[in-house]
Amino acid sequence: MLKAVLFDLDGVITDTAKFHFLAWRDLGAELGITVDEAFNEELKGVSRMDSLERILAFGGLADKYSTAEKEAFCTKKNDHYLELIQEMTPADILPGILPLLEELREVGLKAIVTSASKNAPGILELLQVKDYFDGIVDPASVAAGKPAPDIFLAGAALAGVQPAECIGVEDAASGVEAIKAAGITAVAIGDAEVLAQADRVLADTSALSLAVLRDAWEKATA
Ligand code: G6P
Ligand code: MG
Repeated sequence: MLKAVLFDLDGVITDTAKFHFLAWRDLGAELGITVDEAFNEELKGVSRMDSLERILAFGGLADKYSTAEKEAFCTKKNDHYLELIQEMTPADILPGILPLLEELREVGLKAIVTSASKNAPGILELLQVKDYFDGIVDPASVAAGKPAPDIFLAGAALAGVQPAECIGVEDAASGVEAIKAAGITAVAIGDAEVLAQADRVLADTSALSLAVLRDAWEKATA
């Protein structure tokens, strides 16, 4: 039986990609590296430090900076990102998410946040949806980031259920890979070609509902 839904945050509950992009673009510019929107796509689902490492490698500067310098760059990027997201309100919740959270609450299915973002608790507060969730996995508590399965396995454990009793919802290819590696049914939001590994792909979040999730889970686990 389907017992829990594990939600990615960025690109599923709300669209923060544009703010991550602006903050990385400005940091990149300071370092002489052009971060464009196409490259930013590759950073979806990727942790803060791993994103910086990818940007530095992209700019041919992989070995230039010390760990302390890289940590300072991450802090700078995050301070800018935090400034940008302060304007977020419940109006920034993506379509279909609130009705789905209501449905999950009504039938008693667990809802867990499995985001790589250390800012997830703060963003859920801004969106005023924190109370809908039974737990938020701390990304710092898992050994390996997406596409490793760790965060989704931790999400199932936090819900107190087996991975096979969960569905994971993701918008990034690295996230879908992580869900599948955890032995969890994957529902993806976005481009069907990019997210081909998922059990079900929906063009956008407005197509999400408990009925759709149950159908996807039943077909994937039959
Ligand atoms: C999500 C986003 C990534 C971001 C990561 C870490 O996975 O898709 O773009 O780098 O979270 O976010 P944080 O808020 O901790 O920097
Ligand atoms: Mg995402």
